[in-house]
Amino acid sequence: MNDMLKTTPDVSLEAAAALLAEHYGLSGTLSPLASERDQNFKVETPAGTFILKIVNAAEPAVESDFQTALLAHVDAHAGDLPVPHIRPTVTGASLARITSVNGVSHRIRLVSWVDGQPLAETDRSDAALESLGRMLGRFDAALKGFMHPGALRDLDWDIRKAGRSAERLHHVSAAEDRALLQRFLARFAKVAPRLATLRAAVIHNDANDWNVLVDPADQDRISGLIDFGDALHAPLIAEVAIASAYAGLDHADPIGAAAAIARGFHAEYPLLEEEIDLLYDLIALRLVTSVTISASRRSHTEDNPYLAISERPAWTLLRKLDRMNPRFATAILRKACGFEAAPGARAVTDWIARNRKSLAPLLERPAATYPAALVPYGDPTHPMTVKSAAEQPDEAQAIWETYCAETGVELGIGPFGEARTVYAGEMFVSRFIESARRTHHLGFDLFMAAGTKVFTPLPATVVSVEVEPDPLGYGCLIALRHEPEGCPPFVTLWGHLAHEAMGRLKAGDRLDAGALVGEMGAPAENGGWAPHLHLQLSTDTNLSATEILGVGEPRYLDVWAELFPDARTFAGIAAEFYERSGRSHEEIVKMRRELLLPNLSISYDKPIKFVRGDGVWLIDDGGRAYLDCFNNVCHIGHAHPAVVEAMTKQAATLNTNTRYLHDNIVAYAERLTATLPKELTVAGFVNSGSEANSLALRMMRAHTGRENAITLDWSYHGTTQELIDISPYKFRRKGGKGPKPHVHIAAVPDSYHAPADWPIEEHGKRFAESVAEQIAIMQAKGEGPGFFIAESIPSVAGQVFLPEGYLKEVYRLVREAGGVCIADEVQVGFGRVGSHWWAFETQGVVPDIVTMGKPIGDGHPLAAVVTTREVTDSFNNGMEYFNTFGGNPVSCAVGLAVLDVIESQDLRGNALAIGNHLMDAFRDMQTRHEVIGDVRGLGLFLGIELVTDRKTKAPATDFARAVSNGARRRGVLMGTEGPLDNVLKMRPPMIFSKRDADHLIAVLEDTFADVARTLG
Ligand SMILES: Cc1ncc(COP(=O)(O)O)c(C=O)c1O
Repeated sequence: MNDMLKTTPDVSLEAAAALLAEHYGLSGTLSPLASERDQNFKVETPAGTFILKIVNAAEPAVESDFQTALLAHVDAHAGDLPVPHIRPTVTGASLARITSVNGVSHRIRLVSWVDGQPLAETDRSDAALESLGRMLGRFDAALKGFMHPGALRDLDWDIRKAGRSAERLHHVSAAEDRALLQRFLARFAKVAPRLATLRAAVIHNDANDWNVLVDPADQDRISGLIDFGDALHAPLIAEVAIASAYAGLDHADPIGAAAAIARGFHAEYPLLEEEIDLLYDLIALRLVTSVTISASRRSHTEDNPYLAISERPAWTLLRKLDRMNPRFATAILRKACGFEAAPGARAVTDWIARNRKSLAPLLERPAATYPAALVPYGDPTHPMTVKSAAEQPDEAQAIWETYCAETGVELGIGPFGEARTVYAGEMFVSRFIESARRTHHLGFDLFMAAGTKVFTPLPATVVSVEVEPDPLGYGCLIALRHEPEGCPPFVTLWGHLAHEAMGRLKAGDRLDAGALVGEMGAPAENGGWAPHLHLQLSTDTNLSATEILGVGEPRYLDVWAELFPDARTFAGIAAEFYERSGRSHEEIVKMRRELLLPNLSISYDKPIKFVRGDGVWLIDDGGRAYLDCFNNVCHIGHAHPAVVEAMTKQAATLNTNTRYLHDNIVAYAERLTATLPKELTVAGFVNSGSEANSLALRMMRAHTGRENAITLDWSYHGTTQELIDISPYKFRRKGGKGPKPHVHIAAVPDSYHAPADWPIEEHGKRFAESVAEQIAIMQAKGEGPGFFIAESIPSVAGQVFLPEGYLKEVYRLVREAGGVCIADEVQVGFGRVGSHWWAFETQGVVPDIVTMGKPIGDGHPLAAVVTTREVTDSFNNGMEYFNTFGGNPVSCAVGLAVLDVIESQDLRGNALAIGNHLMDAFRDMQTRHEVIGDVRGLGLFLGIELVTDRKTKAPATDFARAVSNGARRRGVLMGTEGPLDNVLKMRPPMIFSKRDADHLIAVLEDTFADVARTLG
């Protein structure tokens, strides 16, 4: 370098003008330009503006040749790039040789002048820097495949030689400055081997902001790239690093500047992830090289202002880079180029979204089941925010508690990405952007009382347990690592916990899904906040708990969102919590009143508006999830994917009627009848349970020629007039006109309410006597029964399980009298009882006709009648049977899918096991709650009868209603049933799990205790 300075050319203006005339045949105005080691003149001639370069005599010829060849290559491959173009000498040479007055030999070159203003003198907008990136990308792309011996030189400015800075460290006088440089050089030890494996090519290698020109009329546009004196065969990424190092000098957001350059470069010449991953270090190392070279030169040449020109900003930038977390800087740079902020980040969020249903609840109950509201930290003027910012957590908490008491809210939510003013302290100043603050919340807060337990949704290994003591810090902080199969590992951070976890957990401990992580801490332990859990995901598993940024700069929210994805789904919060859609409840109620039949009823005083169903859950318009223990239509779960797929696939292909041939209807009839006793071989498909029962009645009439009905008291069989006529539940209540002459009502065979003196083993026979009596009445008039119809487990009558032998006796009596037996399995069929496909099978009988509906299509309107060949033959009397929608290909596809799922997932087995578990729990409750008179159930068809007195069995109707309402308040849906409305009715979907069952049990326990307290 010293040699270079000694051999700097020293040609006068006049001599330069003479050279110009001699070698290029040009004359014009010359003015000197600054140069570190060569001598440059701006030359304005009528033929254009040029730069005359008199090359340092110490520069080896191969280097001058290299630059010349480089420019020629760019000219040939990207002629439109705004770089200097060589003007040949009068003899046609690219370079000429001269001898200066002091006898030194120099080479000279004339290149075209590139217009523009140095980037250094402009504002360096993001757009300009991106444009610079593009320019460099195009330039380097043009140099692909270019090689020259001069490109393989040994330069201290070669990024691969950054390690040499260590040898210059002693020129840096301040120990703390040396320590700073040493930190980066220590990192270089790890970077160097990776750098060696990256793509290398000839690059400009010095796109500093004096070598980059901007269009003065449009400062967002780069208009030129000049000075190829440092061009070198080097790692491609060094081009971006060097430009970024200079662009970052005195820049408020140096990583943002680098990101803009990288983005532009990547658009023209795609970078690789492993290149971008080194960028932060290479930027720093360029600066380390620069400041150590400056320091070393200053030691040799006292006070050369040119040498020190970029030293001060370079030190400032190095200190800034040193304060940053390199992983965050890298994340910003990766994201700028369209890569994931952390490798695998998107796979983590996708995995969580896909597997959300299998996550264990984070709170005692699934978080979505609590009535929730946003905590007002997004509103800077809200008193709770003001108190929190003023570090008065108790006052903030009191405000929140008052709000919860008034509104019934139980869970406060502090969303990801929320702009907050509570982050007032010094610790929230940005380390990336000058005079910016970290204001946006990157965690997901759940506010509940201090002491609320929180559990891990997935198995975990404890990474760290610590206490962060700063005011407005995390208090007790736990990091867990999760490695679910098929998902990249990720970390969860649990902040503001009580200190009890410190003694209970340590790094390396394994936690099962659902295991206790900690308790929400009181302000004294949680960093001084209203009690809450700050839950945060980190897709970068290399960050320590305290490195994970809980609050970030809004400018990089997209980066933080990948590094620290919104934990809402992991916490079990439904998307609808954030996005209310459609009309208000009041508006819908009003429109229903105006537009719909007024006698449609609405459940609950405060109606619920559901917007989504998902397995065992129904989600309302505020995102609250209710455990559906009532709706037995969505038999295998709401929105079952197999049903949705079968339905959409067939609907997208064909839907017609039974007058054309189709595979689905025969396939379905074959599968459905195979679930029934061998006598029941013929199926008819309709669209509702009512239609099924109506068709059954037509068949019955055709077969018996009779009309007389025997129906059980308090039964319901459908909505058409002929079915209302055989439904005492309807005709005996409001608006009903009592039984028609052909309708005969038999007693509900309800063992619980049987006369006390009936021996239990005689209940079947004794209750059947009521049917015999009705037959006798008919026979006394010279008539006989046309049919007997009963639900195989009377549901509307209060989940009544028939006494043993009842149907056997009744069917015998009815058949002897010439009637047919119809089993209404509309509610109880399709394996709900678990032990059998059909509830009538538990009675050991085979009906003549079975009607089915509700669960058959998992919500799709499909219903069926299955009967014997004999009945069918009678029905086939010459009149065509046609049903426009019945048995259509879409409905049959749905029916098949439902059967597939029940069979392939052994949902009958599940129903029995979970039903038994529930029955055990209910029986246990019965020992503790006097109000529980009777518990009844088989599989997932369950009832709990409530009485005010176990002896008199007087109905505890108010208690039953209060339990149903209390369960609803706690997010569990059930119903009340029976003539006195005192039976809790539960029919959860067949996929109901043990976890769901335990949830139901816990809610019932809680509700019973609560109702007992309030009702006395
Ligand atoms: C036992 C029973 N049968 C028949 C029906 C009528 O079915 P749908 O409402 O599908 O017409 C119902 C409906 O509640 C029912 O519970």
